[in-house]
Amino acid sequence: MDHFNLEDGVLHAEGVSLEALAAEHGTPLYVYSRATLERHWRAFDEALAGHPHLVCYAVKANASLAVLDVLARLGSGFDIVSVGELERVLRAGGDPGRVVFSGVGKQPHEMRRALEVGIRCFNVESAPELQRLNAEAAALGRIAPVSVRVNPDVDARTHPYISTGLKENKFGVDVDTALALYRQAAGLSHVRVTGLDCHIGSQLTQLEPFTAALERILALAHTLETEGIPLQHLDLGGGLGIRYRDENPPSPRDYARALLQALGDSRYEILMEPGRAIAGNAGVLLTRVNYLKHGGHKDFAIVDGAMNDLLRPALYQAWMEIVPVRPRAGAGRVYDVVGPVCETGDFLGKDRALALEPGDLLAVRSAGAYGYVMSSNYNTRPRAAEVMVDGDRAHRVTRRETLEELMARESLLPADER
Ligand code: LLP
Repeated sequence: MDHFNLEDGVLHAEGVSLEALAAEHGTPLYVYSRATLERHWRAFDEALAGHPHLVCYAVKANASLAVLDVLARLGSGFDIVSVGELERVLRAGGDPGRVVFSGVGKQPHEMRRALEVGIRCFNVESAPELQRLNAEAAALGRIAPVSVRVNPDVDARTHPYISTGLKENKFGVDVDTALALYRQAAGLSHVRVTGLDCHIGSQLTQLEPFTAALERILALAHTLETEGIPLQHLDLGGGLGIRYRDENPPSPRDYARALLQALGDSRYEILMEPGRAIAGNAGVLLTRVNYLKHGGHKDFAIVDGAMNDLLRPALYQAWMEIVPVRPRAGAGRVYDVVGPVCETGDFLGKDRALALEPGDLLAVRSAGAYGYVMSSNYNTRPRAAEVMVDGDRAHRVTRRETLEELMARESLLPADER
């Protein structure tokens, strides 16, 4: 459920008209609903109530300071994959003690910063990473809390680009290697084993891969226990899917229930790293129809948003719902909704039945996750602005990029260069 609804024939975010926001801030424009973000975060938190847990929002899904701010105020933890994401969390008022650090390629300077601020856990993905972390921690006189990211080799049954839990993926280590890594970690002077981590993929719409993964890591946790390497927490990663079109993903409550059931009477603290399920349906991308082009074979609605603003359709052939902000009567036509970027892959949606006139506003739904964060300056297009709606108020939380900013880091060759 989200807070984007038609009121008096116009799509609103909570109490604010999207037409008014587009008029004030221009398009393309990302608009988020605070109430939706909070509702989704709480759905996870409440589903785990009664069991020790921490919901660590996956910052990569939407890293805007205002989004992190909203979640930090709820007491959220955060899953980060770079020092940049860590600095964002800190700037937004997030608690470093609730930060877990994932990713296969952590760099020494990133480890040092995370050690300095005292994060909750490093999710270690390889033997050399473990050694390096131990060395960095020793140099700083700190002890690094670690989990090993286990790749449980289960099929997440999602798009191959966002499936991470199969043995051919680059993520984590298999169960046997994990055991060896834990034994190694137990003997290192500057790391302390605190948990076990796993993330099998994104946009999962079934429970079975999650419970299969949990069963495998539970077995490993028990083996570790018998070896005298006890764990405090199990980090089950993110990955719960959302409805873009007709998917029927489990609710956070069903998801948590299935996991807690598979956990039995184990009292491990449960960490989760949901990203999409919190931010996805809490945002839309507003874009305006610039031209309608009627070809012999196809009708095109050429809009001012493009693949540089929202890459998911071009990159994954992802289907995202596109709705008029002020729906018109009549049957309309079937359009490919395309942007101005010079690539055939630059589309936001194909074969959409829409009644349109030039100048109409469209909203791409479910654009709150992996939308703005994946935007680029391709074709020298400044990145969009972002607005956070809170009840009947709207705050512009990211200014539209200017061309000046876009070129600010660049220079010409020296004038005397031949
Ligand atoms: N934890 C780890 C270690 C991850 O790699 C990810 C996502 C998450 C948590 C959050 O997963 P979520 O709950 O959002 O599914 N750009 C793609 C999605 C890439 C996901 C990468 N990892 C897309 O637009 O579909």
